[in-house]
Amino acid sequence: MLTNKTIVLGVTGSVACYKAADLACKLTQAGAKVDVVMTDSAAKFINPLTFRSLTGRTVFTDMWDTLSASGVDHIALAEAADVVVIAPATANVIAELAAGIAGDSLTCTVLATLAPVIIAPAMHTGMWRNSITQENVAKLKNRNFTFIEPGYGYLASGCIGEGRLADIYTIMGTVRQVLGRTGNLAGKKIVVTAGGTREPIDPVRFLGNRSSGKMGHAVAEAARDRGAKVVLITGPTVLPDLAGVDIVRVQTAVQMKQAVAKAVAGSDALIMAAAVADFQPQTTSAQKIKKAAAGGKMTLPLVATPDILTETKGRFLKVGFAAETEDILENAKEKMRNKQLDLIVANDVTAPDSGFEVDTNRVSIIGPDSRTEDLPLMTKKEVADRLMDRIAVMLKPKPAPKGHTH
Ligand code: C5P
Repeated sequence: MLTNKTIVLGVTGSVACYKAADLACKLTQAGAKVDVVMTDSAAKFINPLTFRSLTGRTVFTDMWDTLSASGVDHIALAEAADVVVIAPATANVIAELAAGIAGDSLTCTVLATLAPVIIAPAMHTGMWRNSITQENVAKLKNRNFTFIEPGYGYLASGCIGEGRLADIYTIMGTVRQVLGRTGNLAGKKIVVTAGGTREPIDPVRFLGNRSSGKMGHAVAEAARDRGAKVVLITGPTVLPDLAGVDIVRVQTAVQMKQAVAKAVAGSDALIMAAAVADFQPQTTSAQKIKKAAAGGKMTLPLVATPDILTETKGRFLKVGFAAETEDILENAKEKMRNKQLDLIVANDVTAPDSGFEVDTNRVSIIGPDSRTEDLPLMTKKEVADRLMDRIAVMLKPKPAPKGHTH
């Protein structure tokens, strides 16, 4: 989705400038045209040549050393931008923007642009927490600037505290979210589940499965990138939080059911990519079960978990996943009927390049009237995108019947 988008990357004078080089590189690799605008202080930390080499494009530093064809760089940049990202943003640039000061290429560009502006602050904790900075941030937020809160950790001063530049993954995610705001799921609310559940046996053991959460996270990301408001309910996973997505972390099937029940209010679609346990131990031991006490043999009584898809009712689109090892399409179609689904994504989890843990998947998407779309092997992100194509069409308001009058 970043292909051919023009991103103006403002880099200001924080030691975190070196991370902006990585950001410029990743945005370029994702297909964006990245125009870097540096303040004088930023150019003291890092040479503009670094950005020129990474982006393959002109880097703007001095307002008086005009480089664009029109000779007015900040207006050319302001008009070309699909989004402006300032990372790292110092307390100084935030104050200038809040006051409407336009003393250099970057602040002139921001003042002139109609594109959305994202600000990722980086500074010492004291400067960040200072009420002057916080007032400036509040003022800019009121004017629809998007802030990516700084993280907590080691700072250049040697202190540990709040003020570190947010990680590049979060900044990239925010860029995608902001660019996707007007996508074909704008205004829709979508609930996605991901990962496997864990059903506790005792305080140290659980019944789980091999689901990594990658498919569900990719679905949530794809929905976000098309403008949907997304709630992601996920079982335990090592995957990082997705920027711009509300994340609810759960452990068990029962907790997932409760979280889904709460989240689906007012939603347009429920997409259950989670591998929910079908059974849970009848009781959970309060203490670790001892090997000796089991007498060399152990039987674990199980009871069925609630079927979330079947039991969650409402006027939203219901989408299920069917991880199968045999008779894939027949089993998926049966699930679709039993669980009254609008769409089901069937996948063979026996192939090494498809299903659990890996980044790729080979799926069939079965829609109403059993219309089946067999997709070749592709990344889970691509599968998620194809699924969203189908969902966006199904959620599109139907045109009024001919001859209809108000
Ligand atoms: O019946 P099976 O578990 O194979 O169905 C898979 C689909 O049903 C998935 O979309 C899964 O998230 C959902 N499911 C559920 N509640 C369960 C088990 C599965 O919603 N207890």
